[in-house]
Amino acid sequence: MTETTTGADPVYVVDDLIAQDIDAYLDLHRNKTMLRFITCGSVDDGKSTLIGRLLYDSKMIFEDQLAALEADSKKVGTQGQAIDFALLVDGLAAEREQGITIDVAYRFFNTERRKFIVADCPGHEQYTRNMITGASTADLAVILIDARKGVLVQTRRHSYLCHLIGIRNVVLAVNKMDLIGYDQARYDAIVADYAAFARSIGIDRFTAMPISGFQGDNVTTRSANTPWYQGPTLVDHLESVEVNAARDAALPFRLPVQWVNRPNLDFRGFSGLVASGTVRVGDAVRVLPSGKTSSVAQIVTLDGNLDEAIAGQSVTLCLADEIDCSRGDVIAPADAPPQVADQFEATLVWLNDEAMIPGRAYWLKLATQTVSATVQAPKYVVNVNTMEHMAAKTLDLNAIGVAEVTADRPIVFEAYAENRTLGGFILVDKITNATVAAGMLHFSLRRAQNVHWQALDITREARATLKGQFAQVLWFTGLSGSGKSTIANLVEKKLHALGKHTFLLDGDNVRHGLNKDLGFTETDRIENIRRVGEVARLMTDAGLIVITAFISPFRAERDMVRAMMADGEFVEVFIDTPLEEAERRDVKGLYKKARSGTLKNFTGIDSPYEAPENAEIRVDTTREAAEDAAERIVNRIVNSIRGNWMPTI
Ligand code: ADX
Repeated sequence: MTETTTGADPVYVVDDLIAQDIDAYLDLHRNKTMLRFITCGSVDDGKSTLIGRLLYDSKMIFEDQLAALEADSKKVGTQGQAIDFALLVDGLAAEREQGITIDVAYRFFNTERRKFIVADCPGHEQYTRNMITGASTADLAVILIDARKGVLVQTRRHSYLCHLIGIRNVVLAVNKMDLIGYDQARYDAIVADYAAFARSIGIDRFTAMPISGFQGDNVTTRSANTPWYQGPTLVDHLESVEVNAARDAALPFRLPVQWVNRPNLDFRGFSGLVASGTVRVGDAVRVLPSGKTSSVAQIVTLDGNLDEAIAGQSVTLCLADEIDCSRGDVIAPADAPPQVADQFEATLVWLNDEAMIPGRAYWLKLATQTVSATVQAPKYVVNVNTMEHMAAKTLDLNAIGVAEVTADRPIVFEAYAENRTLGGFILVDKITNATVAAGMLHFSLRRAQNVHWQALDITREARATLKGQFAQVLWFTGLSGSGKSTIANLVEKKLHALGKHTFLLDGDNVRHGLNKDLGFTETDRIENIRRVGEVARLMTDAGLIVITAFISPFRAERDMVRAMMADGEFVEVFIDTPLEEAERRDVKGLYKKARSGTLKNFTGIDSPYEAPENAEIRVDTTREAAEDAAERIVNRIVNSIRGNWMPTI
C-alpha cells in the first residue's frame, strides 16, 4: 500500500495489486486469519482515539468496501479516500455520547496480514453484561490505562471480567504517554502495579506497551519517543498473536451434533461445526452421552469429502456402525471423551433485569444441547471492583456468582477453562425467552455418577394394577380461598367411596410439616412446589391417585411438575375463582390482613398468580357448585384412560 500526502489531508491510494489483479488481492484477503479483540477502558482513557487511530492507520479498508469490490471488481480503479483523523475520532466519541454504543459496537478493519473485529464496550459497572457479551467471542483484550492515572478500579474490573470469560491474551496499553513526557519510570511503575494485581487474579502473562493513541506512538509504527521500549507495536502484536481458532485446533476432537443428515435410507451422517481438535477417516469415536463407539467412515462437506477436518469446519460425519446419535450428542475420540453429568458448579453472570430465582427451571443451552436446569442460591457473589467474595441470596442484574446448577438430564461438557464451546452456556427464561445468564462450568459435582438409580423388581405399573387404577396427580391450582381444598376434599371422598386408593396433599397441612421451613417469598414458594412435586411423584410410583391443593402461583413450576410425570399422569385442575370473589369470601380473614398491610406477599394482592393457559379441567366456582364440580372431576378420573384426556371443559 502506498501513501501520499497532499497538504494537511493524507490521501490513500489503494494497493497496486487491487488495480492490477483484483482476484489475487481478494484471495489474499480471504486467506487472512481473523482476530477478534475487545478494548476496555472508559472514554477518558482514550479508547475512541485509539480505535480511531487503528482504523485510520489501517487505511480504512472496511468489510463493506471489500464487499463492494467483490461485487464489481471491474469498476475498481484507483480509489482515493481522504479521511481526517480528528473528524473520525469525534465521530466515534459522539456516537458513544449519544448512547448509541451502550450496546457493544463492533468495528471492522484490516491490515496486510490480518482481519480484525474490535468490540468497543461501555466500561461502567452497570454495563458489565455488555462487556461480557463483547468479551465472549474475543481472542484478545486491550486494557487501556491513562498513564497519568495508573491502575484504577475499573482497570481491575475489566481485567477480571476478561480473564473470567477466558481471554488469554491481554495487552496492557499504557496510553497518553505523550502527556507524561514518555517517562519510562512512570511506565515501569504502572506495569509493575498491574503485574501484581494480574497475578492475584490468575492472569499469568500479559503484554505491556507504552502508546499514544492521539500521537500514534507505538500503535502502527515504533515511536522515536520511547527508545527504551523494545517490544512490538500494538498492531504488530495484534497481527502475530495466536488466535483462539489455532488453540481450539490443538484440543481433543469434539463435534457437537447439530442435526442428523438422512436424505435417503442409504445415507446417515451427523452434521455440525467441529468445536475443537482434528478428526480423520478411520478414527475410533465415541458418541456421548450414550458412550456407544464406532469409527469414522466418511467426512462429507459441501465441497466434497475430506480425509480430515479441523476445528472451525462444518462437516457431516458418517460412522461405520448404525449407532444412535441425535442433535445435542457430542462425537469425540473413543479414548478421550468429554465428561457427562447433571450437576455442576458454575460461575454465572446475570444478564437480566429480573433477579435469578433459585430453584426455578430455566432452559440451559450448551453447544447444541438444550436441557431444563435449576440454579441454587449462590455460594457467593464476587464484588467486581474489589474481587471480594460476598454472601448473597440471589444474582441481580450484572452480578457474578458461583452456584450449583442441576440439569434434568445428563449433559456432555468440559470445564470452561479447557474448552469454551463445551463449558460455556446460557440460561434462557422459559416464559419470556430472554437470555438471563451466561455461565461457565467449573466441574461436575459427580453426584449423578455416585448416586445410582436402584432398579426395583416391582414396577409402578404393577403397584397401580394391584389397586385397579391408573396412578395420577390431580393438581389443583388457584387463589387462596378459591375453593381448592374444599373441592379436592370432596373428590377424594368420592374416589375413596369408589374403592380408589388416594392421597390428598394440602398446602396448609404440608406447610405444618415437610415444608414448615418455608415462607411465601417467590423462592420459598418455588421450593414448596418442587418438594410437593417430588412427593407426588413418589406417591404415583406407589400407585396412588394423588390430589394436591396448593396455590402454586407460577406456571413455570406447575410445568416443571408436569414434566416430572409420565404423559397423561398430570391433570391440572384450575379452580378459577376471581380475586374479588375469593376476597369477598375471605374464609380465613387473610385478604383483610393483606389489604391492611399486616400480611405481606399475599397472592393476588402483592404477589402474582399466573393462571393456567391449558389446564385439563377448569372449574368456575361462581357458576358451578363444589359438589357438582367434584362429581364432574371424579367421572373424568374413573372414565379416563391415561394419556387420553378430553380437551378442557
Ligand atoms: S404456594 O403459593 O406456596 O403454593 P400454599 O398453597 O402452599 O402456597 O399455601 C397457601 C396457604 O397459606 C393459603 O391458603 C393461606 O392459608 C396461607 N398463607 C399464609 N400467608 C400467605 C401468603 N402470603 N400468600 C398466600 N397464602 C398464604
